[in-house]
Amino acid sequence: MPSLYPRFILCRCSLRGSAATVVRSIATSLVAYFGVCVVLGVAAFSQAQRSRGDGINDPALDARVDAILQKMSLEEKVGQLVQYSAGQPTGPGTGRSDYGDMIAKGQIGSLFNVIDPKQINMYQRIAMEKSRLHIPILFGLDVIHGFKTEFPIPLGLASTWDPTIIEKASHVAAMEAAADGIKWTFSPMVDIARDARWGRMAEGAGEDPFLGSAMAAAYVRGYQGSRLDAPDSIASCAKHFVGYGAAEGGRDYNTTEISEHTLRQFYLPPFHAAVEAGTTSLMSAFNTLNGTPASANPFTLKQVLRKEWGFKGLVVSDWNSVGELIPKGVAIDGAAAARKAFVAGVDMDMVSSLYHDHLQALVSSRQISAAEVDDAVRHVLRVKFALGLFEHPFVDEAAAPKALYHPESLELAQTAAERSFVLLRNADGPDGKPLLPLANGAQNYAVIGPVGDDSSYPNGAPPGSGPRTTLMGALVARVGQEHVARYKGCGILDGSDQEIADAVAGARKADIAILALGESPEMSGEAASRAHLGLPGRQQELLEAVARTGKPIILILFSGRPLTVPWAFEHVPAVMAAWLPGINGGPALVRTLFGDVNPSGKLVVSWPRSVGQEPLYYNSNNTGRPPESTDLTHAPRNIEERYVSRYIDEQNTPQFPFGFGLSYTSISYGATKISADHLNARELNQDVGTNGRTVVTAQADVSNTGSRAANQVVELYVRVQGASTEQPVRALKGFQTVTLAAGERKTVKFELRGDSFATWNDRNQLAVEPSKVMVWIAPDSAHGTPAQAEIVP
Ligand code: BGC
Repeated sequence: MPSLYPRFILCRCSLRGSAATVVRSIATSLVAYFGVCVVLGVAAFSQAQRSRGDGINDPALDARVDAILQKMSLEEKVGQLVQYSAGQPTGPGTGRSDYGDMIAKGQIGSLFNVIDPKQINMYQRIAMEKSRLHIPILFGLDVIHGFKTEFPIPLGLASTWDPTIIEKASHVAAMEAAADGIKWTFSPMVDIARDARWGRMAEGAGEDPFLGSAMAAAYVRGYQGSRLDAPDSIASCAKHFVGYGAAEGGRDYNTTEISEHTLRQFYLPPFHAAVEAGTTSLMSAFNTLNGTPASANPFTLKQVLRKEWGFKGLVVSDWNSVGELIPKGVAIDGAAAARKAFVAGVDMDMVSSLYHDHLQALVSSRQISAAEVDDAVRHVLRVKFALGLFEHPFVDEAAAPKALYHPESLELAQTAAERSFVLLRNADGPDGKPLLPLANGAQNYAVIGPVGDDSSYPNGAPPGSGPRTTLMGALVARVGQEHVARYKGCGILDGSDQEIADAVAGARKADIAILALGESPEMSGEAASRAHLGLPGRQQELLEAVARTGKPIILILFSGRPLTVPWAFEHVPAVMAAWLPGINGGPALVRTLFGDVNPSGKLVVSWPRSVGQEPLYYNSNNTGRPPESTDLTHAPRNIEERYVSRYIDEQNTPQFPFGFGLSYTSISYGATKISADHLNARELNQDVGTNGRTVVTAQADVSNTGSRAANQVVELYVRVQGASTEQPVRALKGFQTVTLAAGERKTVKFELRGDSFATWNDRNQLAVEPSKVMVWIAPDSAHGTPAQAEIVP
């Protein structure tokens, strides 16, 4: 559909392109993340919390909202619940261009995809000067990992395991977007993603609910700042509520079946964390969840979100997800779709026009109540008041460009990229030492592969917007043009025999070949599910041909998901996952390759060996037939090897486990110890969900046994056995980054509380049950020596 294309590009630009209780409970969970050894960002975090305004939870908003509500006609109320994408008037689902007239009549509450400040002011002037009640328009956009200063994609940002980086990056995004007149971002995407086929894995924080919750809260804090009405704050929108990441077969927009237990234990926590951090809005998802579409689902939207979590903000539908109730077959016409979505709890209708077309009539015919409409309008107006839009509806057109590309923003983008890279393999080079880091000196490099010198590549943004240096450019700046030769080798999807032959000849002339391979930006994100997860096109062929030269090879993988390249992991000495690293990805990579930076990123998704393993995630249940000591590297040869939970043609384990990442030094972990081996379930339960006491301290010695300083992400996992529901083989319950000088050893401690041992029980309640627990302090989800304890009744 031609009209889809511009909208898609726009999305991709942006892709690349009671308060006290809330504060307390966030602080509680955060303390567990950081432990007591080296604590990154806690001081900054508590400072931010102390000075934070109440945002949408400010009780003073009620009177202001009600005062204006009393004056509103039904038409004007419904107008607040209507949103269009005005960037492309003929875009899918919108089909109109009369926004100006509609705004003057009070028929529109929000527009998005309008990115020109002049146009924003033009529409806003109509709202403020021509509409009867002068209610400002709320302008939104998918500002996903930066507005103009583009940071690594969210999957990369999460690989830093550093919420403070995410908070700072999203604050830069907020500052730039707000200066442009955009006061609402459809971010963060906090969907749990267990299946690399799903292209939107790129947009989230991976497969784990604990890490995902920390990241969700960090995004919200970053976007919304210390006060929502500050000029450099914007409203956040946690999406897609809920379960979207479990799309069957990893196929985007597909249906989902998630038990209430799994929903509560894995998929809901990051949304809950976003709500606790004060997100002003949530987006209801496309997927059908257990038979009921997420955008018409009163269980998730009303029971969980409003009743259990007390959310006071705004729920916006996803793009035409109200209209999609018709093809899904739960609504026979537009009126039924509008009614079902609205009654379920969707306040604002993104682009379908069905609220505009039907809500008034539905109220007149008493199919929905006027009081419910008032409530939905309250949710919208709360956000507008909290943002200070009534006081400051217009954007300073002259100021907008001044907010972009600040040197400190660009520096942060580079730091974030450096921290996001995950070193997957670093075998010995010709000199018998690990190939990376590269030695400074007069070596000659061949930069090969479609990604090596494409300035639009790192983030998918249109070339030319903002300063950007490619990998090739950054390498030339480092070692001089005379030491670098460039061979494309092939395209992402195409390539000729000649191009490959040229690259091979070029590699022969060089001392080291750097292969920059992977996916194009359009191959991940929305509507980019893949059934094959290897290198696209002829890139594998190129890689093998270059490898046959016998030259040392460094493979840098650019992608929005893990790629199944088992051959490379066996034959290529050095492999690094660079994700899509953002505007300063080139310089960040070169600094990392030369060891100015020691890689510290770790995987936030399990890296599959082959696509048939998906969905693949570390926090899975054991089966009744675990293979345990069975050798799975070959097909079963007897009954013992066969009748276990396994594939007959693939191993069960991932290529690299969740939490994995190498550095240029070696780190060793001592056994985990805990301060008590008997815990009391009753006492622990008093703490669940509160700012509870530390009940037990876990610690392990972590040593840098190599010769370089390193930042090491130390992870804490718990396994609970004997509870009323089966619990995963491991669950992340803490992480912290420690800095270790060469040869240094630190005792890393984590404080564990009731929440660390609480699980969703067979009555779908979060509780600590009598059980046996194992606790690991480990470099990743597959290693470590655990301590054990018993939780007694
Ligand atoms: C996506 C959302 C996005 C919205 C607005 C939808 O297609 O699923 O994530 O926020 O479009 O661009």
